Order: sequence, then C-alpha cells, then structure tokens
Amino acid sequence: MGIEIAGFKSVGVIGGGQMGAGIAQVCATHGLQTTLVDISDNQLQKARAGITTSLEKLASKDVITAAARDGALKSLLFKNDMQALAGCDLIIEAITENERVKVEVFQKLDKIAQASAVFASNTSSIPITRLAATTTRPANFIGMHFMNPVPLMKLVEIIPGLTTSNETTTRILELAHALGKETSRSADYPGFVVNRILMPMINEAFNALMEGVASAEDIDKGMKLGTNQPMGPLTLADFIGLDTCLAIMRVLHEGLGDPRYRPSPLLVKHVEAGWLGRKTKRGVYTY
Ligand code: CAA
Ligand code: NAD
Repeated sequence: MGIEIAGFKSVGVIGGGQMGAGIAQVCATHGLQTTLVDISDNQLQKARAGITTSLEKLASKDVITAAARDGALKSLLFKNDMQALAGCDLIIEAITENERVKVEVFQKLDKIAQASAVFASNTSSIPITRLAATTTRPANFIGMHFMNPVPLMKLVEIIPGLTTSNETTTRILELAHALGKETSRSADYPGFVVNRILMPMINEAFNALMEGVASAEDIDKGMKLGTNQPMGPLTLADFIGLDTCLAIMRVLHEGLGDPRYRPSPLLVKHVEAGWLGRKTKRGVYTY
C-alpha cells in the first residue's frame, strides 16, 4: 500500500528521460504509487535500468534503506500509453523542452486525467501561465522545477503561474519538502531564477570557445577550479543536454527581448549536428 502526501496518493510522470526518470525514482522512494509514461519503449527500458542502478548506489551508501530501494521498485509502473495516468492525483510533466509538444500533451492529459488532478510542469523555462491556459484547470497547474540529477540535487524551484491557486502552491511545497527537497520560489518570468542566471553563463562559455579565447578544457578548468563549481560550464551543458540549453536560451531571448540572450552560434551548430551531450555520447566532449 502506498502512502499519501499533501493529498497525493498516486503520481504520474510523463517523459522518461533523465529528468522524468529521476523524478519518478524520488517519488517512488518516498512511498508514492508512481507511473512513468514515455512514448518510447527504448527510453522506458533505459529509465528502468537507470533507476535500478541509482537505487542500488544510494542503498549501498546508506543514503536510502534497503526497504526504500525495494519498495520503490515495487511502487513503480512503466507505461507507453498516457491513459495509464487516468487515476493519478498529480501528473508531473518532464517531456522535451518544446512548447508545441508540451501543449499537445497537456491537452490530451486534460481529457484523460481526473478533474481534481493537479498538473505540474518540470519545464526549464516555458511560461507556466501560458501552459496552464491551454488546459481547463489553470488553478491546478504549477511549475515544479527539479534539478539534474534529481536524486542528488537538493533544490526544487516552485513557480506558481498567475492563475495557480494558493492551495495548489501549498500542496506542491508540502510534497517537495516531503520528498526531502529544499524549495525556492520564483515568479513566472522567462527562465525563472536558476536558468536565467545559469544559462547565460553556459552560453558565454560557448561564445568564448567559438572565439578561440581558450580550449574547452581550459574554459572548464578555469570555472571549475577558479570559482569552485562541481563541473565546468561546458561539461555541465553536455550533462544537461545541448538541445535543452538551446531551447532555454531561445525562451530567454524571445521572452526578455534583449540581444544579450542571443544563443551562441556554436551551441546552435552542435544541436544542428545532433551533438546533444552525454545522452547522444557526443557534445562538446565525446563520451
Ligand atoms: N543516483 C545515484 N548516484 C549518483 C547519481 C544518481 N543519479 N549520479 C551520480 N551519482 C553518484 C556517482 O555514481 C558517484 O558515486 P561514487 O562516488 O560512489 O562513484 C557520486 O554520485 C559522485 O559522482 P561523480 O564522482 O560522477 O561526480 P561528482 O562528484 O562530480 O558528482 C554531481 C556528480 C553531483 C552531478 C556533481 O558533479 C554536480 O553537482 N554537478 C553539477 C550539477 C548541476 O549543476 N545540476 C543542475 C543543472 S541545471 C538544472 O538541472 C536545471 C535546468 O533546467 C537545466
Ligand atoms: P530528455 O531528452 O532526456 O527526455 C525527454 C523525454 O521525453 C524522452 O524520453 C522522450 O521520449 C519523451 N517524450 C517526448 N515527447 C513525448 C510525448 N509526447 N509523450 C511522452 N514522452 C515524450 O530530456 P530531459 O533532460 O529529461 O528534460 C525533460 C524536461 O525537463 C524538459 O522540459 C527540460 O527543460 C526539463 N529539465 C531538464 C533538466 C536537465 O538538466 N536536463 C533540468 C531541469 C529541467
């Protein structure tokens, strides 16, 4: 039997990439009945394998108990059809950072999900108010922005849209805290807080590389050892996904209208080449 947190018993996560898999893992580890949906069976298999490895690692370091590890695997369902989310109290969306695709998915989910279900988007930058307005439940819609890798990173950025009810915000804050996370709150402006500040740094690292200021290794070493970051900006970009970084820069550029957010042509070129970072085994670096 699963538990209930803030009135949520069953959670659906749509999008089983690196973020969706991590979010589903954390929800299941905390006892919530969790269903992970992706259109790609291959991604679902990768998600299952990644979650199993991560849970083993965390249990071997006593970060979670063996019971939490085994319970999580039992609480998790993997499905390739979003109809499986019909009975969920909360649906967290973590599909590709593309507004058109997200809107299509939310409109389908809106018809499938219970009227009382809350929708949360893990979007890195797309306006929450605009996504919420495409559904019939704008008061039950919120931004819940987890950080990568979800099982290790402490923060969840909470973004109420203009139409989000106080009740929805309160419940999502309670859930995030029960999942062992700290929260920070941001208004619904392009890139919210974390990506408004992080992405211009990553973009500037691509510009510095493009202009031949330094090699990729020296840019990363400079920022890693010079400013005590765990990863240099180009390594971090590969880790996040260069397609995601580019999508966020485009939202900042369009949403804030300032040329300083212009995506670096070298970042664009990498995405055009299909060099998306670790997930495609090649980005700035080769894996
Ligand atoms: N589950 C369980 N364990 C994991 C894991 C996971 N998902 N990912 C990594 N680990 C483990 C590793 O296996 C490793 O274990 P061992 O020491 O036993 O080998 C341990 O964590 C440390 O990992 P590494 O040695 O590989 O590397 P590290 O010490 O650099 O730590 C890191 C990894 C925590 C990811 C660290 O590099 C880091 O904090 N990097 C920055 C991450 C960051 O900035 N994230 C935010 C990105 S922005 C964002 O998410 C928002 C957005 O919208 C784009
Ligand atoms: P990813 O490319 O690893 O995974 C995206 C997944 O969505 C894929 O498995 C894909 O098959 C699936 N998908 C696409 N269309 C779908 C549909 N119609 N129905 C079901 N599944 C579908 O991407 P990611 O890095 O996990 O990012 C997902 C979301 O999380 C994006 O909005 C991104 O901006 C956000 N985010 C990413 C990071 C990061 O560091 N990568 C951090 C925070 C937030």
